[in-house]
Amino acid sequence: MANGKSLTGTWRKIVLRGLSSIALLTFSGEMYAGGVNSNKPLTFSKDIAPIFQAKCEECHHPGTPAPLSLITYQDTRPWLAVIRDRVQKRQMPPWHLDKTVGIQEFANDRSLSDEQIDEIVRWIDSGAPQGDPKDLPPAKTWPSHSEWQLAKQFGEPDLVIKSDDYTVAAEGQDVWWRPFSQIPLTEPRWVRAVEMRPGTIAGAKVTHHALAQLEQVEPGTNPTPTPTLDNPGGFVTPGLLMEWAIGKNFDIYRPNTGKLLLPGSRIRWEVHYHSVGETIRDHVELAVYLYPKDVTPKYRTRLFAFQSSCGPACLDIPPNSIAQTQGFTVLKQPARIENFQPHMHLRGKAMLMEAILPDGTTRVLSYVDHFNFNWMNNYIYAEDAAPVLPKGTVLRFTAWYDNTANNPSNPDPTQWVGWGDRTIDEMGHAWVNVTYISDEDYQAWAAAQKARAPAPGSEGGAVVH
Ligand code: HEC
Repeated sequence: MANGKSLTGTWRKIVLRGLSSIALLTFSGEMYAGGVNSNKPLTFSKDIAPIFQAKCEECHHPGTPAPLSLITYQDTRPWLAVIRDRVQKRQMPPWHLDKTVGIQEFANDRSLSDEQIDEIVRWIDSGAPQGDPKDLPPAKTWPSHSEWQLAKQFGEPDLVIKSDDYTVAAEGQDVWWRPFSQIPLTEPRWVRAVEMRPGTIAGAKVTHHALAQLEQVEPGTNPTPTPTLDNPGGFVTPGLLMEWAIGKNFDIYRPNTGKLLLPGSRIRWEVHYHSVGETIRDHVELAVYLYPKDVTPKYRTRLFAFQSSCGPACLDIPPNSIAQTQGFTVLKQPARIENFQPHMHLRGKAMLMEAILPDGTTRVLSYVDHFNFNWMNNYIYAEDAAPVLPKGTVLRFTAWYDNTANNPSNPDPTQWVGWGDRTIDEMGHAWVNVTYISDEDYQAWAAAQKARAPAPGSEGGAVVH
């Protein structure tokens, strides 16, 4: 396993070789543009404030849990060196995807462009001048905590489901709070959107992230879906309804697509709380927006936990080493892949999702190359970029774990690490929403794609077979 690093290296070289000449041309074009712009004097008011408004303020304004506000010049001043570092390493905004491979169009992309990073760094390196406050863009307003953000679009939610309260001590270790709430429905209903929030602004400070898992018995399926050695590939759950994390408040399903809620089902919450120096009591709440009673969407989207190893027993991470594991799942029907959300713990380093098509060609779908346990980012494909895959496609997930001292999150590189629930143990799967489609849908989709087929060799998100 000591050669884990070089495996990554080899893999990268293969991918780079596979890049189209078009992509390479664009890249050098941007480099050139950066060079030309480098004489332009940059100021906070004119150049930087618009970037911070677009890419940072949502999480960095007073009343959010982030440690700094990035609204005014005065807010920003004391943090320049840290901003430079976080931005240059692509740690902030949290978007830990390799931008050189795979699909790059997302519905929720919050990353900075190379040019924006370059501007922030050059502005700081040139003494971070304020410029003329008259150049500032109009201030943005952020929604108040008590409003449901989707109410503007859908009206008041049909259901609001709350977890039990929990008291987070002023000091202490992280807590995973896992209560249950019954879903008050007497007949099956389809969900078109969900929104989630901590109960209070104070609560948002201690809520690291929160999951609302749907627990329901699906007719004809195993009610306790757990990966086993017989069935290691992927296990299906009726759905994670929502994950809340700072900057991620709601999810709207695509047109004619939804999640099905059955009567008698319940929510299993998983709230990751951490102490912030004051005692705070709070809960999380989920707003559910339903399709009208007489509407049945054509497509049902379901959440899969695709395993990135051959099962729990295969996770074997020796001390002071980098380990690599792989897991495979065959798609039994044509399907659209909606998102990629790798899940690992503190040693998690990178995860790759590829599609091996029935003709043997392999496509990189997404590669998270600098995974960070604090940010379980969900990469949601843009409408036209979501890959549609034929029946028989093998999804291959590769995970890398860094159990060396080079990993700043590693609590102890001298320990052997195996599968387990605690953050000091490991896991490896990707949460992926899969929408199965019919063979006819797939044929129609493939015909439409061929009509506007991308140039041979270019890296399109969509996959035609
Ligand atoms: C999705 C929410 C989110 C976005 C978007 C975001 N941040 Fe952050 N940021 C956080 C949170 C939460 C923290 C504290 C936890 C951490 O460091 O991961 C943080 C930490 C930081 C820190 C480190 C502060 C410290 O104490 O070391 C800096 C600097 C920073 N962000 C700058 C930025 C900049 C600049 C942008 C935009 C270009 C940005 N962030 C976008 C949520 C966000």
